[in-house]
Amino acid sequence: MKIENSLPCTQLPEAPPQTDLQFTVATEDDFDDIMAMSQDIYGGLDYLPTRYQTWLQETNRTVILARKQGKVIALESVVIIDDGETMLVEGLRVAPQERGKGVAGVLLRFCSQMVKSKYPDVKVSRLTRDDQLGPKEFQKYRLITKQGILLVRFRAEDLKLRLAEMGPTAGLPADGLTPPHAPVHLDPSEVCQLFLSSGLMRNVLPNATIVQDWQPFKPLPSNMGILLKKDIDWMVDDASSPTVASLCTFPFRVPIGDDWYYLNIDMFGKDLSLVLQQFLSHLRRHTSTLKGHVMCQVFLDPPLWKPVADFCRDALGVELVKEYTEQCVVESDIV
Ligand SMILES: CC(C)(COP(=O)(O)OP(=O)(O)OC[C@H]1O[C@@H](n2cnc3c(N)ncnc32)[C@H](O)[C@@H]1OP(=O)(O)O)[C@@H](O)C(=O)NCCC(=O)NCCS
Repeated sequence: MKIENSLPCTQLPEAPPQTDLQFTVATEDDFDDIMAMSQDIYGGLDYLPTRYQTWLQETNRTVILARKQGKVIALESVVIIDDGETMLVEGLRVAPQERGKGVAGVLLRFCSQMVKSKYPDVKVSRLTRDDQLGPKEFQKYRLITKQGILLVRFRAEDLKLRLAEMGPTAGLPADGLTPPHAPVHLDPSEVCQLFLSSGLMRNVLPNATIVQDWQPFKPLPSNMGILLKKDIDWMVDDASSPTVASLCTFPFRVPIGDDWYYLNIDMFGKDLSLVLQQFLSHLRRHTSTLKGHVMCQVFLDPPLWKPVADFCRDALGVELVKEYTEQCVVESDIV
């Protein structure tokens, strides 16, 4: 299904009568207002300042703003993926003074209605949450998959030195089962070949889902087209029979402070040694030229969280920013 570029405001449905909100499609001119209401969001790891311009250009995405008396008070974006069958909700935020009054709920329902009327092929809404979900949420959502979130921080220069001291395999647990061998970087054609072959990736991807930097994709050619446009390193242990696969973003700036970068690594698979080898390989590659502070978020199979966290603290000497949390990919039907 073809999606029009950002919808003109006139094509948005009316706001529900019981609210005093107006809804508009975001434009470049709204950037400062959006940043003003996004202070300290996601613990300083907000990706939106870096991504906003790109988001506005993406032909399958619409960024919607809620306004109260003309003032921007909330944002949500919807992306149509999975061959036009899924609406992915991203970037949801409400201005601090307006939280707890039902604004997010109204905005979410407005966006679902908009998508339903414009794109009747869309059947489900998917989103990723890292807050505590209770029985109320699970009445609303089906769980697609969950990954543990490991958040560490370090100075790029310090980690570079530490990695050089360690040598290529030092520090890896000697479990005697997995001989260390170099992870394989995949080029775009290898990525498609591997990830579109459901047989090869069946035991690697959780619930047949590629979760990349909070975005869940089904392994479909149209989604690979979206993913391959991004700056991502794709890695596996063995291209003909993979056990572990990982996707790492190139570092990008986040507003936590000057010279702070964010590195996102999504790990799929259950073998600890192979996970650590790929983790180290991504770190080596991306810290070699970087100067400044790095927040590195690793998403991995929940039982691997503790041993990888111990490795980060004890072998790499990096600081854990928070204890175990989870990323839940959930979906609900569009009704
Ligand atoms: C999370 C946040 C958007 C909630 O806004 P809010 O206006 O206070 O929320 P509401 O009063 O409408 O009540 C919560 C509703 O939003 C939903 N909601 C809360 N957090 C949500 C999230 N992260 N993703 C999707 N929906 C969420 C609730 O399930 C509830 O839906 P319901 O109306 O169907 O019951 C707001 O606290 C915020 O901006 N926080 C900082 C940014 C953030 O954490 N965003 C979440 C991105 S994953």
